[in-house]
Amino acid sequence: MIDFTDLPTLHKCYDGANGKKISVSYNNEVYMLKFPAVVTKNADLSYTNSCISEYLGCKIFESVGIPVQEVSLGTYTTSRGQTVVAACKDFTSTGVVLQDFVSLKNHIIDSGHQGYGTELNDILDTLDKQSAIDREELSERFWNMFIVDALIGNWDRHNGNWGFLYNTFTDKLSLAPVYDCGSCLFPQADESIMLSVLSKKNELNDRVYNRPTSAIVINGKRINYFNFISLCANEGCNKALKNIFPKININRIEKIIDGISVISDVQKQFYKVIIKQRYESILQFSYSKLLSKE
Ligand SMILES: Nc1ncnc2c1ncn2[C@@H]1O[C@H](COP(=O)(O)OP(=O)(O)O)[C@@H](O)[C@H]1O
Ligand SMILES: [Mg+2]
Repeated sequence: MIDFTDLPTLHKCYDGANGKKISVSYNNEVYMLKFPAVVTKNADLSYTNSCISEYLGCKIFESVGIPVQEVSLGTYTTSRGQTVVAACKDFTSTGVVLQDFVSLKNHIIDSGHQGYGTELNDILDTLDKQSAIDREELSERFWNMFIVDALIGNWDRHNGNWGFLYNTFTDKLSLAPVYDCGSCLFPQADESIMLSVLSKKNELNDRVYNRPTSAIVINGKRINYFNFISLCANEGCNKALKNIFPKININRIEKIIDGISVISDVQKQFYKVIIKQRYESILQFSYSKLLSKE
């Protein structure tokens, strides 16, 4: 793992609610270093596993062929000691800036919906009404991301957590690589929660069928991934399931998990079991149902 402590820092700043970030120059490239998010829900944990979640989530997107930011794990030492950081290569460049989906939604001036709202129908309305980017390509990215987010249990894919690269020279928009997977795979679970999930079927089922929910809502209520996908009622979602499911390779994902040197065997086992169970119970179940329906 690279130690990022003594690298030159830059003045580029990043927003986001989940932890501190700095920008460093490494091998003449700009990297955003994400520090572990502060714990809000679990008093027994001093810092969350958000950096491991970021790394794993991004690598899983990569494994199914969806363009994603380049991320590696590293260390950084502050006055409070050494910490693991997620180093995300900055995908912007001179004349190429990130515009999130919030801003695309704001761009539709004849709709009453505000940019941050994640009501599904309003999002779909924006996908349809916008003309900045190919509609089919945009809809595909949205739903493909939804399926992978279901696999990795991402509860934070709000409109600010995906977007586009705007080229200021050509006035063209393209899809940005996927970023911010720091809220997938239960970053606030500590070792005792992990052990409990590994030993109690009801604890595991709860984390497959009930939570996390999606950041996208229907009538103000966060979508339950299992209920929504297994209903097979949304054409875009069905299409993405048919496209993505065959590309998921559990062995490959397990190898990625085994390759993380800084986590315990319990944590590795936790990720493997959660992902395999979500794969089988949410995606495989829905995929089989969809094929038999057709
Ligand atoms: N690889 C990247 N390159 C350039 N900008 C990025 C990259 N990843 C994230 N950003 C920008 O930085 C912001 C914060 O990063 P994010 O990972 O979303 O943090 P948080 O988990 O705190 O929400 C994002 O909203 C986005 O604007
Ligand atoms: Mg974010």
